[in-house]
This record gives sequence, structure tokens and C-alpha cells, in this order.
Amino acid sequence: MMLTSEQRDVLVAKAREVQGKAYAPASKFLVGAALLTADGQVFVGCNVENASYGLTICAERSAICAAVAAGAREVQAVAVVTDLADPARPCGACRQVLAEFGPAMEVVLVGSGAAVVTTTLDKLLPDPFTFGGGDLPLIKG
Ligand code: THU
Repeated sequence: MMLTSEQRDVLVAKAREVQGKAYAPASKFLVGAALLTADGQVFVGCNVENASYGLTICAERSAICAAVAAGAREVQAVAVVTDLADPARPCGACRQVLAEFGPAMEVVLVGSGAAVVTTTLDKLLPDPFTFGGGDLPLIKG
């Protein structure tokens, strides 16, 4: 089901709020994410960097961990907020992790201005890894 404009505004506001808690001493790039679960709960996450740079956790995956730790399993939408003029797109790793809990979830991306990009996760990641195979045709060898 599509987000109402009120739901979208709430998600974006929560993502913007948690963006302020991002821990990004290396990149100084602050990201906030808010998820809406199928039963109407909102969970947030921010990016958490580390002195060992490769251990960084993105905002989207941090929000997924918060949701799952609270018992949620089905996500209907995610908002991701940054300060880029052109709203940032979720990285590939986050697309895969989001897909586990809502392969067709609505994705709302917001940057520094009023512009909002809305799309769906199945457009951003059409054929994710699952144990059930995928969409590509099988070719017999
Ligand atoms: N980052 C996110 O939090 N989400 C993304 O989808 C892409 C990148 C973070 C990771 C790192 O802390 C900073 O942005 C710069 O890459």
C-alpha cells in the first residue's frame, strides 16, 4: 500500500531527527533512515562509522537491526535523509538487506532541499539474492 503524504512526512521527519545522531567522524556524511513496518511502527537508524573504516554500518541497515530486534519482520517503507542536493540513493549492500524484509517497499529519499525522490526497492534492486532463486532465465548446460 502506498504511503499517505502524512505517513511520508512522519517518516522523513524521524529520519531527519536521527540523522543528527549519526556518528561519522571519518566521512562527516550524516545519514538518517526511518522504516515503517507493516503494523505501523516506525524504527530509525543512523550511520555508525569506526576507526577501522570498513566496519561502518549504514543508516538503513542500522534501522533494519533496530526493527528486527523489536520483533518486526515486514517493512512497508523506508525514508533516507542526507544533506546532498540530489538525494542519496541507498548503497547496494543496504538494498539487499532491506529486500529481506520488504522486497517491494516504498523508498523515499530526501536531500538538503525540498525535493523528494520516491521509488520502490524492486526498482532499485530488481533481482536480489534469495535462497529461492530469482528472475533470470535458467539456461541448460
Ligand atoms: N552511508 C549510509 O549510511 N547509507 C548509504 O546508503 C550509503 C552510505 C554512510 C556510510 C558512511 O558512514 C557514509 O555514509 C559515507 O559513505
